[in-house]
Amino acid sequence: MSQQPEDGTPSPRKWVIQLAAAGLAVCVVSAGTFHYTAKAVFQRASAGGGGGDVTLPRPPADPMRDVVSLEHGLAVYAANCVTCHGPQGFGDGPQAAQLIPRPRNFTGGNFKIGTTRSGLPTDDDIAGTIRHGMLPALMPPWPQLSDGEVRSLVMAVRHLAVEGRVADKLARDPKFPREKALAMAHAALDSGPVIALPPKPAKFDVERGKAFYTNTCATCHDPDGRAKLRDDLVDNDENPIAARDLTGTVFKGGTSIEDIAMRILRGIPGSPMPAAPADVSADDLWSTAAYVKSLQRSGDVSSSR
Ligand code: HEC
Ligand code: HEC
Repeated sequence: MSQQPEDGTPSPRKWVIQLAAAGLAVCVVSAGTFHYTAKAVFQRASAGGGGGDVTLPRPPADPMRDVVSLEHGLAVYAANCVTCHGPQGFGDGPQAAQLIPRPRNFTGGNFKIGTTRSGLPTDDDIAGTIRHGMLPALMPPWPQLSDGEVRSLVMAVRHLAVEGRVADKLARDPKFPREKALAMAHAALDSGPVIALPPKPAKFDVERGKAFYTNTCATCHDPDGRAKLRDDLVDNDENPIAARDLTGTVFKGGTSIEDIAMRILRGIPGSPMPAAPADVSADDLWSTAAYVKSLQRSGDVSSSR
């Protein structure tokens, strides 16, 4: 039963609403005052800031930005990467469960993008991946980080990968000497030498590339490169994964013809994308890379990541 007073006195509910409205008004007014005070301060702070527009003062330069050290890397990692890759780099951050492909577990030694035969990335490879991200997966690019921050992050990623392997070894065999476990982890994660791409021919034989593509690649990427037909591919985590739509322009490892040739030559470890046969000829390699490039909607053969 509702108890509406009939004599025009506001009901307790109305009072509450009126009070709330009055409170809100006070808030709006004081926020406005703060805004104008802040605006005045910022305007004074920005020397010669013209036209009445608010020019925010530059934040003080962070003296840490250019420091390259593991400590710095772990701090930048804690601020930006833990949410997906987890505090120890196991790929188990709070956001990880929603992401497919999963954020990388650094201790597993699986890295997709690199320039070596071993399947492991060099420091430059890891730095490039951090800088450019791995879209269309949900690994974001980090253009805002300084070189010092990226170099330090590479040290952090390596450190987490090594420490994770050591911890795993010692958990299984507690008497195993830590020094030896460390040496083993370093050896297991050593990227080895970089692949030298064969010299690029002066002219690309795109028809030859198309023939190689049709025989070797179309089974996953479709004859037209759109990768719509296969839905049975899975990655190393047993999660479904699609081959790349080669008519798009967003690749995980860059879209220059050199990037594509490198992906063809060494495959994408951890995904079903295989490395080309070791004896693939330079002509087949470059003409296929050129053909892939020709499928891109932009058709811009010179663009790089
Ligand atoms: C929003 C989630 C997210 C954040 C934040 C994130 N990553 Fe990732 N990262 C991923 C995912 C997802 C992958 C796996 C992509 C794939 O397998 O295609 C990945 C992969 C990687 C890889 C593996 C590269 C390779 O070649 O396989 C490295 C290294 C990496 N991330 C470093 C970082 C660093 C350093 C940061 C912080 C600056 C960071 N990530 C922040 C989601 C994230
Ligand atoms: C067994 C299936 C399979 C075959 C065969 C295959 N690919 Fe792939 N390819 C994939 C998958 C899956 C991905 C996506 C991997 C990922 O996103 O991590 C991929 C990704 C790519 C990419 C994108 C790389 C990047 O940086 O994002 C290119 C380019 C590519 N493949 C070209 C080729 C070419 C050229 C051939 C033939 C020489 C080929 N692929 C053969 C499955 C395959």
